[in-house]
Amino acid sequence: MTKILVADPDPRARADLQQLLGSRGFEAEAVDDVRAALLPIDEGTIDLVLADLALPGGGGMQLLHEVQARHPETAVVLLSAFGSVQDAVSAMRQGAADFLGKPFASDQVLVAIERALEKATLRRENSALRSALDDRLRLDNVVGTDPRMQAIFKTVKAVADTRTTVLITGESGTGKTLLARALHQLSARRGGPFIEVNCGALPENLLESELFGHSKGSFTGAVRDKVGKFEAAAGGTIFLDEIGTSSPAFQVKLLRVLQDRVIERVGDTRTVPVDVRIVLATNKDLEQAVAAGEFREDLYYRINVVSIEMPPLRQRRADIQALAEHFLARFAREHGRPHLAFTDRAMALLLHAAWPGNVRQLENVVERAVVLCQHEAIDSHDLPATLSPRAAVASLEPAPADGPPLPLKEALLGPERRIIEQALLHCGGNREQAARLLGINRSTLFHKLRRLGIR
Ligand SMILES: Nc1ncnc2c1ncn2[C@@H]1O[C@H](COP(=O)(O)OP(=O)(O)OP(=O)(O)O)[C@@H](O)[C@H]1O
Ligand SMILES: [Mg+2]
Repeated sequence: MTKILVADPDPRARADLQQLLGSRGFEAEAVDDVRAALLPIDEGTIDLVLADLALPGGGGMQLLHEVQARHPETAVVLLSAFGSVQDAVSAMRQGAADFLGKPFASDQVLVAIERALEKATLRRENSALRSALDDRLRLDNVVGTDPRMQAIFKTVKAVADTRTTVLITGESGTGKTLLARALHQLSARRGGPFIEVNCGALPENLLESELFGHSKGSFTGAVRDKVGKFEAAAGGTIFLDEIGTSSPAFQVKLLRVLQDRVIERVGDTRTVPVDVRIVLATNKDLEQAVAAGEFREDLYYRINVVSIEMPPLRQRRADIQALAEHFLARFAREHGRPHLAFTDRAMALLLHAAWPGNVRQLENVVERAVVLCQHEAIDSHDLPATLSPRAAVASLEPAPADGPPLPLKEALLGPERRIIEQALLHCGGNREQAARLLGINRSTLFHKLRRLGIR
């Protein structure tokens, strides 16, 4: 039950208010000076205070300050029989929820109470949200408040201290390498090496000797023994990038390492145990590669123990602003322009762009803007013209030519989202106008916004 404290020196006023409040389902307590008022307030049971300005023991204004210092979420409505406009203004400035001149009608005080309670609830919710934000999971240097990123951070934290193999998938530029590093940094192996190998960049035989090492004379050019990256990563993490394009022969060798945790140097039959955490990444759809016979199924199951899918940036728009600010802070510092900011227009453009190159593209766009910008703020003309949703709509991506087509409904989501975003941008975010422009009614637009996750 909502509890209201009436603090008024006039016994008649106290009784009237108490009766009125009681009849409306409030629990009301009455006191006649500041000190008496502070007792229940300190107990933390009071939701709202109705206080007369002429309250003995310091006055209603003094009580307002005390409440703000002790229980800022409690609303205070001030009352006065001699109140001037100035008193009212000053009370509100100092944080009173409302100010009523006596005598007042019952309706007046009830409306003021309702409004004040509403405001207090909002304030409480806001501060709860803020502290929830502060409690969010963080990984060093990895920005992400989107629920999908938060779920990823949770997984990373859960597996960091194990030796479980982790597979990270996702489009190029979504942060796979960054996440692999964060995983290493979080693990007990952080003191050991983090060794990165791009498995797509080397021809098969070189890749093998690179990873497993070779013994002297095992092939032309092998003039001395060479320690491979698996051995070099002992006690740490080896990060095998672009695993999806590796050759079948290499896949067999990798399977052996994963199964038995041993390697054989090229040209050497002795097996060497390796103590490494293996993290793999690919921007290919491995399941599809398995179906197409390009990737060994047994290896796929071996590496797919814990898999993390990095969502493309266009599917986590909530992160765009935070990422843009993160990169701006970094590049502004690096380029000696510490006070640069984005204009609202520039931010709107960033928020609505399609980002086919994901976070890497955003990072590049921000750096370029920092370098090019001649003013205090980065405006839309400092950003590449290709970012505008208009440009994106012009290049409505057709279904990928190779893979199977998406179900029609799904395939249409992308274009639909971009057209709606373009309309919103055009109307400065005014949804009513945007709906008119799109020739749909408002509730249809709201429904679509919710479904597409557009803010
Ligand atoms: N969540 C993030 N927070 C901060 N920076 C990020 C985030 N994600 C990506 N980046 C930055 O974006 C750039 C691209 O990320 P990264 O190299 O990890 O992507 P990738 O998925 O490994 O790409 P590729 O498939 O091309 O190897 C890097 O500079 C990285 O630091
Ligand atoms: Mg990478």
